Amino acid sequence: TMLSPSNSSSDSQPAPDGGPARPMLLINGEYPGPLIRANLNDTLQITVNNQIADWPISMHWHGQYQNSTPWFDGTTGITQCPIPPNASLTYDFTVGRPGTFWYHAHTSSLYIDGLVGPLVVHDGVEGEARGEGTEYDYEQVVLLSDWYHRWSTDLVASYLVPDNENVEPIPDAGLINGKGLFNCSSDVFLSALDSGSVSACISTSQRMGYPLLTLNEGRTRLRLINVGAFADFWVGMDNHPLTVIEADGTDVEPLIVDRVPIAVGERYSVVVDTTGEAAGFWFRAEMNVNCFGDVNEVLDPNILAAVRVLPASASSMESTVGSTPVNWIAETTTGLPTTDAWAGTWTGPTCRDLDLSQLVPAVVEQAPVASRLLTIDVSFQIGANAVDLGYMNSTAWVPTAYTPTLSAFAGNGTNQTSVDADEEGWIVGMDEVGWNANKQGQWVIPISDGPPDEGREIEVIDLVINNLDDGSHPFHLHGHQFYILAQGPGALQQDPTYYTSLTANHTLLSNPMRRDTVTVESYGHALIRWVADNPGVWAFHCHIAWHVAAGLMVQFVERGGLLGEWDVPDEVAQLCDAGGWRPEVEI
Ligand code: C2O
Repeated sequence: TMLSPSNSSSDSQPAPDGGPARPMLLINGEYPGPLIRANLNDTLQITVNNQIADWPISMHWHGQYQNSTPWFDGTTGITQCPIPPNASLTYDFTVGRPGTFWYHAHTSSLYIDGLVGPLVVHDGVEGEARGEGTEYDYEQVVLLSDWYHRWSTDLVASYLVPDNENVEPIPDAGLINGKGLFNCSSDVFLSALDSGSVSACISTSQRMGYPLLTLNEGRTRLRLINVGAFADFWVGMDNHPLTVIEADGTDVEPLIVDRVPIAVGERYSVVVDTTGEAAGFWFRAEMNVNCFGDVNEVLDPNILAAVRVLPASASSMESTVGSTPVNWIAETTTGLPTTDAWAGTWTGPTCRDLDLSQLVPAVVEQAPVASRLLTIDVSFQIGANAVDLGYMNSTAWVPTAYTPTLSAFAGNGTNQTSVDADEEGWIVGMDEVGWNANKQGQWVIPISDGPPDEGREIEVIDLVINNLDDGSHPFHLHGHQFYILAQGPGALQQDPTYYTSLTANHTLLSNPMRRDTVTVESYGHALIRWVADNPGVWAFHCHIAWHVAAGLMVQFVERGGLLGEWDVPDEVAQLCDAGGWRPEVEI
C-alpha cells in the first residue's frame, strides 16, 4: 500500500464541516485516509511518500505492537527522524493484534490537520462465526473527530503562549467520517464574522450536508474510532441499542448500552440491528463539553449523521449507490430522519471509560504477578520558561527534538550505550550519549534491561497514574496492550493499602480488561500492568493533541540490552542524516 500525505490544493481549500475553508493535509488526496485492512499475522508494507511541502512527518500504527520492528513504530523523536518532504519510507511490519486500529502522523500535532485513517485487522472469527449475541452480517468504520478552523500548530502556539492561563483550544465543530455540518448562522459565529475574527463559511452550494451512514438491513458491526484532538464523544443511535463487542482490539462479552463514551485514541466495536426496518434514524455523537473546562459558545456539541437502511433485497451498497458511495446527504433533503435522542440523561461515567465491571474480555486471561511498581503523577505547571507545560512526575516532553531515542540503544553499533539509571529510573548522563539538550527533562525509563550475564529478566510493570489535574486524560501506551486493574477517583498513592489489596485481589486479576488506551478522570487514578517483553522504545502519553504538545509524554526503553544487538534498518537511520530535515518553523 502507498500512503501519500500532501497539502490540500490552495485553489480549492477544503471545508469538511461546511464551515470556513482552510488549508489542511490529505492522504492520497483524501480526508480521512484510506481504510487499510489486513489479516492477523500479515506483513504490511506501507510506503509513506511525503508530498507535504513544508513538514516532515512520521506515521504511527496505533495499537500495533511492532514486535521485533520497533523502528517502524513511527514516532518522531522516539523511534525515527521524520520523513522529509519528497522522501519516502516503507514501513514493514507484522500485524500482531486483531481488531480496530488507526494510523496517524506522530509529528507535532499534525494528525489533527488531516493525517489519519482506519486500520482493521481481521482474525477470521468474525461475522456469523462469532458467538451468540455478537454476530453480524456487515461491518463499517465510523471515525469521530473534533474539528478546528485553524491550523493545529497555530492553535498549539497560542495555547502554550508564555504566562498564559492554560486553556486548551476548543473545537469549532465535529466530524463523522470526515464530514459535518457547521452552523454558519449561529449568532455567535455571525458576530465573530462581523468583527473579522473568523472567516466566512463556504457557499451553500459547496456545502455537502449531514454525514450519511448507509447500513444494510440486518446486523452491522460499527467500528468506532476517535481520531480527534481533544473531545470525548458519547455515541448513540436513536431507538437502537448498541451491543459493545470490542474495545481497543480486545473482544468483550456482549454489553448492551444506549450510548458509549469514547475518548481520543480509543476504539469500540458495537453491533446495531436493523432487521426488518426500512426507515432511517439519527446517529448521534455528542461531544462531552463537561470535559473541556471552558465551553466556547461557537461549539455545537451535537454531531449528527443520518442513517439510511437499505432493504435486504438490495444486494450490496455498491450496487445500490454506484461505484462512488454517497456518504453525505443535503440538509434540505426531504425525508431526513425524524427520530429523537434516547430519553433521559446519561447515567454512565463522565469523562472516563465504561466501568471496568462492565467490560469483560471474551477470552479469559489471568494477569501475571507484577515485579515492579512505577508511579507517575500528572500535573500542569508553569515551567522554567514561564510556559504552561504538562508534567509526568517532574518531566515534560519537549517535542522539538528530532534525534530518536531508539538510536541511542539500537543502530548499527554506532550509538550503543549502556543504560545507567538511578533508583527511580531516571537515565543519568544523557548528555554524554549525545542527547539533544532539549530532551534532558524527559523521563526515559529502562525496563526489562540488564547485562546479559544478569539474565535480562522480563519485568511485569505496574504503573500507577495519578491525575492531579482538573481535566481527564486518555493515556496510550505504544508497543503493548495492558491490563487495567483499577480506574477511579482520587490519587492512588495516598492509600498504599489500596494498592496492596488490589494486587492481592484474585477475582480482579483473573480476567482484567486489556486495552492500549485508558482514560484517567480528573483528580483520579488508574493502575495498569503489562509484561515488558517487547524490545523497543515505547511512548506513553496522553493522546489529547494539545497535551502531547504541552509535554505529557514519557518513554519506556524496554529490553535495552537486547536492542543494542539490533540494527536499525539503513532506510530508517538515513532519515537522520545531517540532523534530519527541519521545517522553517519549530515544531
Ligand atoms: Cu495514537 Cu502515540 O499515538
